[in-house]
Amino acid sequence: MIREMLGLAEGILQDLHNDHTEVAALINRIEESEDRAERGALFEEMKTKLLGHAHAEQEVLYRRLEGSQSEASRSFALEGSNEHQIVENQLEKMSANRDKMSEPWMAELNVLRELVEHHVQEEETTGFSCARDDFEKDELEAMAQQFQTRKAQLITKVA
Ligand SMILES: [Fe+2]
Ligand SMILES: [Fe+2]
Repeated sequence: MIREMLGLAEGILQDLHNDHTEVAALINRIEESEDRAERGALFEEMKTKLLGHAHAEQEVLYRRLEGSQSEASRSFALEGSNEHQIVENQLEKMSANRDKMSEPWMAELNVLRELVEHHVQEEETTGFSCARDDFEKDELEAMAQQFQTRKAQLITKVA
């Protein structure tokens, strides 16, 4: 209700945007960190948040868009799901590389940042506009609840 009065993004779209901002800030903090233990902890925090976000978003939003009547929605969701998989693979690769202060690891971090930036940019333009076309405001609000509940479950399981 207050969201509508203030003209903010609707329901789940606002929640997704908030997470995107948080993950981008964590990636910057990882890059700036000069302490090995701190960098490792920040990486674990970012990975947990990003995976929880992507999996919950996949289940609550992408699954519905994949079943949409609209070709644009289906094609966005199928492409975005592929990108989620690529991001996940990159995170696994970075977890396996033990020297998180090394130049190769920093290169992996830059690749991750570029993947995430590209993905988020498409999600917040094409994806959000597909979601606005496909769902009513109250559906977007209900999906916000489902998204938060699912994400909390996923993050607790990982932690
Ligand atoms: Fe997202
Ligand atoms: Fe996404």
